[in-house]
Amino acid sequence: MHKQRLEGKVALITGAASGIGEETVRLFAEHGAVIVAADVQDEKGYQVAASIGSGKVTYHHCDVRDENQVEETVNFTLEKHGRIDILFSNAGIIGSLSGILDLDLNDFDNTMATNVRGVAATIKHTARAMVARSIRGSIICTTSVAASVGGTGPNGYTTSKHALVGLVKSACGELGDYGIRVNSISPFGIATPLACKAFNLEPDQVEANSCSQANLKGVVLKARHIAEAALFLASDEAIYISGHNLAVDGGFSVVNRSYSTTPVCIQVETNSFVPH
Ligand SMILES: NC(=O)c1ccc[n+]([C@@H]2O[C@H](COP(=O)([O-])OP(=O)(O)OC[C@H]3O[C@@H](n4cnc5c(N)ncnc54)[C@H](O)[C@@H]3O)[C@@H](O)[C@H]2O)c1
Repeated sequence: MHKQRLEGKVALITGAASGIGEETVRLFAEHGAVIVAADVQDEKGYQVAASIGSGKVTYHHCDVRDENQVEETVNFTLEKHGRIDILFSNAGIIGSLSGILDLDLNDFDNTMATNVRGVAATIKHTARAMVARSIRGSIICTTSVAASVGGTGPNGYTTSKHALVGLVKSACGELGDYGIRVNSISPFGIATPLACKAFNLEPDQVEANSCSQANLKGVVLKARHIAEAALFLASDEAIYISGHNLAVDGGFSVVNRSYSTTPVCIQVETNSFVPH
């Protein structure tokens, strides 16, 4: 039995029915947290909660674009568990792949409403609950390599994820007064429904693409790796880390080998990688 790194903590996780959110629900539950798992995919959300069992996870419907639903979900969590120690504001969409010349502004607005406004609403209402109860909580948002590198996602998505880094810094500045930490995680491409549907690819094709583009070779990035980064930032082990955007991208966003003096010579078959 490993150390329970979130024993006694209450977590609210959005985008919890699938992909990174689902893996994080599972990992946080393994580490002793009780969780309200929020999403718009109700059937999947209830299945995730039921599959973990032990009453640790409660699914709750919440469309993060609607501030009233966000506030109601925070109140639901408080009524059920009395406090919120951790917010993992992870719900996000990628939006249409149309380029800037064909930009669909309704789609752009919807991406911003989900990925930025939705996260702002969750931070606002969760932080209010933490401040009112003097809880020195941890708030974590999911950004992306698209938060720092252009061309890695569509326009609306890239804009939204850049904006999110600003929101995290801004909230960090204010909430530090209350002992609340605010950080984000920037993943590289992972074979979740979001990436597979957006690019019309099978999971192994998404993974093969990420592996070929990645700087760090020999690992297939999985949703579990992001959950582990979230676990670290949520836990007391990250007690003095705030305002940080933790890239979980194997160095992708900080390396450009155009002028490299060492040849890029390692080509490894993706199916020979050992998943974590
Ligand atoms: N998969 C990747 O390659 C990748 C890379 C970088 C960042 N991300 C980010 O990770 C986060 C999670 O995505 P994922 O890859 O796990 O995809 P996913 O599609 O598996 O999960 C996203 C979840 O968010 C939910 N969601 C969408 N809109 C919502 C809304 N308005 N309110 C509440 N829930 C909503 C979906 O129903 C879904 O369950 C997103 O913010 C995404 O931008 C993903």
